[in-house]
Amino acid sequence: MATPRILLVVGGGIAAYKSCELIRLIRKGGGEVTCVLTDGGARFVTPLALGALSENPVHTTLWDLKNEVEMGHIQLSRQADLIVVCPATANMLAKMAAGIADDLAATLLLATDKPVLAVPAMNLRMWRHAATVRNVETLRAAGVEVVEPDEGMMACGEFGAGRLPEPEAIWARIAAHCGIAPPPAQQPLPLAGRHVLVTAGPTHEPIDPVRYIANRSSGRQGYAIAAAAAAMGARVTLVSGPVTLPTPAGVDRIDVETAREMDEAVKRALPADVAVMVAAVADWRTLHVAGGKIKKRGAAPPALLLTENPDILATVAGDPLRPGLLIGFAAETENVIDNARDKRRRKGVDWIIANDVSGPGRQSVMGGPVNTVHIVTAAGTEDLPEMPKEEVGRAIVERIALALAQ
Ligand code: CTP
Repeated sequence: MATPRILLVVGGGIAAYKSCELIRLIRKGGGEVTCVLTDGGARFVTPLALGALSENPVHTTLWDLKNEVEMGHIQLSRQADLIVVCPATANMLAKMAAGIADDLAATLLLATDKPVLAVPAMNLRMWRHAATVRNVETLRAAGVEVVEPDEGMMACGEFGAGRLPEPEAIWARIAAHCGIAPPPAQQPLPLAGRHVLVTAGPTHEPIDPVRYIANRSSGRQGYAIAAAAAAMGARVTLVSGPVTLPTPAGVDRIDVETAREMDEAVKRALPADVAVMVAAVADWRTLHVAGGKIKKRGAAPPALLLTENPDILATVAGDPLRPGLLIGFAAETENVIDNARDKRRRKGVDWIIANDVSGPGRQSVMGGPVNTVHIVTAAGTEDLPEMPKEEVGRAIVERIALALAQ
């Protein structure tokens, strides 16, 4: 097949963001992509993102007069060699199995005679539900190739089968369908040859040999980013404050305690292609650190005089070795996006990833397992849904890989 033409139907699930990376892989592999976005899908990814990545118009509605004059939904399927439904939600599988045609995606899937590859992603109980099992059987009997979902930690916080496979694995299935030799296993990973510097965790600012000032950061988000970057082939230096997490596979970890030690370690780790400063660095440290343990007996409570710590992120932004892509984090409680935009400019960084700590998950963001982030760049803001920090880490690193590939 000369140029395989893929019609990608993006359904409404958290995994919809992975369709962005899938489009990149299909195009890199020599394919052409046209996207159909369902109403649900549009709540997770924008037509603008899919259109920019596919360099083709994105189709969202059955009731587009201009397209219907040309029988748009029939035309869309005629022009495709393969229809890929990714992510395929439980609802979408049910509609496909029952032959319901109530939107553009469902209609073209009913009207098509082209091969269809469905890549499901959903909560594990939805995947195992008798109705879904039945629908998958019906679809397979009708010749639809339904990919088995991966097992793992899901966005809903549960562990099991239901995760969308990694885009590379989906691309391999598409390539096999289109008669393209699958990429060899030794194909370079997206961040191969890149150096990614990550800071993570809190800093401890000593008061005396046994006491210190700290914050609630667990390091989980930074560690997840470091792990994802290493998995995508980067050389990763992780400058870490005191945490209780294991070092992710393939990551060079440098342990520090104070903000000044972190500042030194970061400077030594440069140059890097990308720096992601996730650490919750203490803004202040004690001006005088007592040489011996401060005794309480007979003495008034000590007054702690504080002085400002170096702003590591701002220093790196002004460094001659400033990484080409410099990313800061910001924990905000109000005017999240405006404050993040302002911080991006003030600190001279490329992206600010704002942690939304104002919602109901407030208690759980710092130190907790999930995170809701907004990626603020010069081009605008992308809102990611609440996800486990591991998933947020992968989503951020996928965007880093896309940015570096431009
Ligand atoms: N940061 C840093 N060094 C510091 C303080 C923060 O490198 N001494 C980095 C963090 O790793 C994070 C970002 O800067 O990437 C967070 O900035 P933050 O401290 O939230 O912003 P401020 O400029 O202090 O603004 P404000 O306190 O007003 O929110």
